Amino acid sequence: MSMHSSNSLFRWTLAAGAVAFLTLMSGCRQDMQNEPKMIPQRESRFFASGRSVRPQVLGTVARGQLDADTYFYTGLVDQKEQEAMPFPVTMTVLRRGQERLDIYCAPCHSRVGNGRGMIVERGYKPAGNFQDPTIRNKPLSHYFRVMTEGYGAMPDYASQLTPQDRWAVAAYIRALQLSQNATMDDVPAGTNIQTLAEISQQMGYSANFPSEWTVPELTDVPTASEMKAAIDARKKTISTTTQNAPRNNSPRKGAK
Ligand code: HEC
Repeated sequence: MSMHSSNSLFRWTLAAGAVAFLTLMSGCRQDMQNEPKMIPQRESRFFASGRSVRPQVLGTVARGQLDADTYFYTGLVDQKEQEAMPFPVTMTVLRRGQERLDIYCAPCHSRVGNGRGMIVERGYKPAGNFQDPTIRNKPLSHYFRVMTEGYGAMPDYASQLTPQDRWAVAAYIRALQLSQNATMDDVPAGTNIQTLAEISQQMGYSANFPSEWTVPELTDVPTASEMKAAIDARKKTISTTTQNAPRNNSPRKGAK
């Protein structure tokens, strides 16, 4: 075999190999922007119905999604709001309620629930004051339902708060209300009650520490022109001291 023919055979093999390779590659081309997965509700030719999503068999409920029509999920019995909690209120439940309220409700209702949260202070529609007799006299599950459904200008908090958390917040709203409306009848018999004045003194403050403070009137406050004169005088001293400050003008070592 001559040198020439072996060379052309080699070229032919290379070309055939390249064609086969390209055919193969184009056959299984798979772009990353076109992944072989189903995006919800996108059509599919795989099923005869043309849907990618299989319809649920009627009457089936996914695990953990059986929100049966109970008081825990609706806050209603016979379509009426109730005073009852669907589970016992422990200190842990109240702490959780306080934490969630401070996060999700305080921006509008404030941490004490008086409706003077920062967003309202900046001009949002006034939020309810939980101490208002109209709101206070609502049954407990009303608060649960306000969080679940929203109320007037207030958006709902169903996606931020689980039903468990909404009940915890409702219980904590009751605790806030009680804190401003407790009477001596609410104190268990035999409890030693101290006045705020006594507690202040024990803590090393004066007895009138908890009472409203009277801040003394400010006297001898300089007028605006007196202030300006004082500032100008101060500016002058600063500029003279900077001018007179010693300067290091000696050439750097080694500099030419
Ligand atoms: C973005 C501000 C905002 C946030 C956050 C907010 N609320 Fe409200 N809330 C309002 C406004 C505004 C109203 C008054 C709505 C109206 O009367 O149209 C209101 C009213 C209420 C009422 C009174 C309903 C009635 O019967 O009058 C309750 C109870 C209440 N909110 C509970 C909550 C709870 C609990 C949270 C936290 C999970 C919360 N709110 C978070 C703005 C807010």
